[in-house]
Order: sequence, then C-alpha cells, then structure tokens
Amino acid sequence: MALVTTTEMFKKAYDGGYAIGAFNINNMEIVQAITEAAAELKSPVILQASQGARKYANSVYLRKLVEAAVELYDIPICLHLDHGPDFKTCKDCVDNGFTSVMIDASSEPFEKNIEISREVVEYAHEHGVVVEAELGTLAGVEDDVAVADDKAQYTDPDQVVEFVEKTKCDSLAIAVGTSHGAYKFKPGQNPKLRLDILDEIVRRLPGFPIVLHGSSSVPQEYVKIINEHGGKLKDAIGIPEDQLREAAKRAVCKINIDSDLRLGMTAGIREHFEAHPDHFDPRQYIGDGRQYVKDIVHHKILKVLGSDGKA
Ligand code: G3H
Ligand code: 13P
Ligand code: ZN
Repeated sequence: MALVTTTEMFKKAYDGGYAIGAFNINNMEIVQAITEAAAELKSPVILQASQGARKYANSVYLRKLVEAAVELYDIPICLHLDHGPDFKTCKDCVDNGFTSVMIDASSEPFEKNIEISREVVEYAHEHGVVVEAELGTLAGVEDDVAVADDKAQYTDPDQVVEFVEKTKCDSLAIAVGTSHGAYKFKPGQNPKLRLDILDEIVRRLPGFPIVLHGSSSVPQEYVKIINEHGGKLKDAIGIPEDQLREAAKRAVCKINIDSDLRLGMTAGIREHFEAHPDHFDPRQYIGDGRQYVKDIVHHKILKVLGSDGKA
C-alpha cells in the first residue's frame, strides 16, 4: 500500500469511535517495532518525525525507512512532520514525500498563529498534503521550545471555529491537560484530562478531527525495569489509559506517543546489559529494546486506540 494522508483514516476513526496512533520515529528499529505491531493487528498508523528526529537521523533516512515499511506491510501508513516550527520546514517535508505536516505556531498570538498556519495549509494543499495546526499550549517540551507549566493554557473553545475556518487546517491539536515527556503530573496530583473542554470543542466543530499531543501513559512496569537496572526515573507519571480511550471514543482521531516508546527501548537495553555484561553486538541489545517498543505499540492499539482490524 502507498503512503497515505490522514483524510480517510480520520474519517473512519471519527465515525468508528477510535483513534490512530501517531508514533515518533528516530531510527530503523523504532520504525520496525511500530509497523510490525500495526501490521500484525491490521491497524492504520501514523509515523511522525520531529525536527529533532530529522536532525538526528536525516529526513532522507527516515523517509526511506518508512518507504520500506510501506513496501513490506499492507496497512495504511502516513508520514507526518511533528511540530513543524515554521513554513520552511513544513515546505521541505511537503516537497520530500511527507503526506502530512504539523505547523506548530501555538506559542504565537492567535492572529499570528492563524497567519502562519494558513500559509502552510495553502502550500500543502496545493501538493496534496494535509495539515495539523495547534491552538492552546501544552506544558513540557515542544521540540526545541520549552513551555513552562504556568504558560500552558487550555484551548479556548470560543476560538476554534474561527481558527479552523481561517486556517483551513485538516485537523486540530488541542490542549486539554496532556503534556510532553515522562513527568506529566506531580506526585499526588490528579492526572485528569479536561474532557469537558474537549466536548465543548466538539460541539462547536462537529465532525472535525481532533489531535492529542503528549499522550504517553508512562507505563510503570517499564519505569520499574529501568530503575531496577541502573536507571533513575523518579516520579515519572503519564496520562491514564482509560482517559485516552475515552477521548478516542469522542472526536480525538490522532493520539501522539513518543515517551512511552523511549521508555520501552531504554528498558530493553538496560535489562539486556545487566543480564549480559559480556555482550557488545548492538543487534542483541537494540533487538531487546525493539521488542519492548513493539509490545508497547501492540498494547496501545488494543487497549488505548481501538484501531485494530481497521486497516
Ligand atoms: O513532541 C515532542 C516529541 O516527543 C518529539 O521529541 O523533539 O525530542 O524528537 P523530540
Ligand atoms: P509524549 O511525550 O507524551 O509521548 O508526547 C509525544 C508527542 O506529543 C509528540 O508530538
Ligand atoms: Zn507533541
């Protein structure tokens, strides 16, 4: 199957009450783990590359890795730019085979966000590429831009209709209590999504695909493996899975997951090194990390996204 945009995926997901996983890719093993799991469960999938991933791996390598997965597996795969910081980066991805881009001008004032997003949409649509834009800011680290907790703000439902009408974006990332990274809540804090704000946004934008960033659940079994094998991740807390499932049943069509994959890879490698201090073949220890990443994606598709059997 060829690389696809998210148009068809989102329409089916919206109507079917499930979401598509958007998993961050940085190297071959991560691409393999995600797509093997998705293919086994016959799930559509979004592979997304951040600016940091493009710097680390080179955009061409990432695209070719995704093309390999497209050749191997008969499932819909979308190649998406995660957190595109400006028009130039988005254009570069549109020109180089990405089927979807995100323009993240969410830290700009409302009018400026519209102007920047609109310019990207015009160019992308001329080339058959879809665009995700963001309104509201998440706490945590958005690529190179750190957003302090006190600067984070929920998406204002009063602004969404004007934003979507003026930008003509294809999907909208909103802030309803998720945040990037493995430390989303402080110990003792109630890890709760503002599903009431989501509902209000859906009331204003019926049928429109909504995106959730910062949606790792930080599975404690992997945190435990890491900490029992020399790691030090203190108070790592994520979004409860049942709340994400609830969001997926409503209008959330794309759920972004990166940190959980990082935890899986790290857990596998740490465990391997402790069990086999004599090993030095990267295929052995990265292979174990890859297996945990695959297990995690499997679990997400079945228990959080509900996208199994929808390819
Ligand atoms: O939203 C951020 C993603 O987790 C990507 O992170 O910029 O370190 O690649 P990164
Ligand atoms: P997590 O850090 O929760 O995995 O979020 C990833 C993300 O939103 C990528 O855009
Ligand atoms: Zn994000």
